Amino acid sequence: MIKSVAGMYFSPSGEAAKLTKKISKVIKDNIEDISIEEINCDYEDMLGDYSNEFDSETVVVIGVPSASGRLLAPCINSLKKIRGNGAFAVILVTYGNNTYGDSLFEMYNLAEEAGFNVMSAAAFAMDNAIFGSPGIGKPYREDIEKIIEFARVSANKIKRLSGTIIDEMRTKPAPLNIKGSKPHRKPVKIPLHPSTNSLCIGCGKCIEICPMEAIDKNDPSNLDIKKCIACTACINACEQDARGFSGPMYSASKLAYEIFTKKKREPEWFI
Ligand SMILES: Cc1cc2nc3c(=O)[nH]c(=O)nc-3n(C[C@H](O)[C@H](O)[C@H](O)COP(=O)(O)O)c2cc1C
Ligand code: SF4
Ligand code: SF4
Repeated sequence: MIKSVAGMYFSPSGEAAKLTKKISKVIKDNIEDISIEEINCDYEDMLGDYSNEFDSETVVVIGVPSASGRLLAPCINSLKKIRGNGAFAVILVTYGNNTYGDSLFEMYNLAEEAGFNVMSAAAFAMDNAIFGSPGIGKPYREDIEKIIEFARVSANKIKRLSGTIIDEMRTKPAPLNIKGSKPHRKPVKIPLHPSTNSLCIGCGKCIEICPMEAIDKNDPSNLDIKKCIACTACINACEQDARGFSGPMYSASKLAYEIFTKKKREPEWFI
């Protein structure tokens, strides 16, 4: 019997959070159809120092971004601190219409190691955190129907398996044939880092949110580029529009990205 749905996301620029919330809600509504009791649906942000324990009566939807075809280091750390204890999981990666590489496969392995029963996995092209919308149409409105379909299909699979009285089947769903290689591709460090402009009022929000403690506590314009992973959390946390990418290397990379990502990538899922 499923009693709750939890949506968890590590989402520096908000796309994985949006997707996780949407999919969690559709799954909750679909499972509630066959449930006698009302099902809770909570959302949790993994960006800070996050850890949690779940149980086999919970469905956990986990959404994270792909970065150069891998997961970001602080996201991996959070995933490693979560215990599934047999909970059903639906895993998602968002990416910026280029490639999601090994990130979904990496997440699948981490989720299984953490004790989740991964029911389904999907990769969706969304806005690019670093280069913005590639101009195909934010946020790929035609994908919304497919996102809902993926959530419904996942909910049906969970309903089938959670309804079974054969415990063996609950603990051993068939493995998902997710694209990716092991060992995973090497992590690539993006040589782009945000800078601060004159609109900065020194509020410190960027300092608080940075998962790498890369911003000087006494001077937000001072960044340790060895620590910064270009996740964009600080840019999105700044309410003054005082942080962003700039400079010739950024402009050239943006141009190359726009040329490279003209063709819209379709949603992909494994179930
Ligand atoms: C450091 C970094 C590297 C990225 N590398 C890629 C990439 O190689 N291919 C791609 O399609 N998108 C890439 N992206 C874009 C993100 O995957 C995409 O914007 C994602 O939706 C961000 O999720 P969020 O909004 O939840 O943070 C990258 C983003 C970041 C921050
Ligand atoms: S969040 Fe923005 S305004 Fe606040 S300290 Fe950081 S850069 Fe400055
Ligand atoms: S300074 Fe770098 S690592 Fe820290 S939040 Fe900003 S982009 Fe992410």
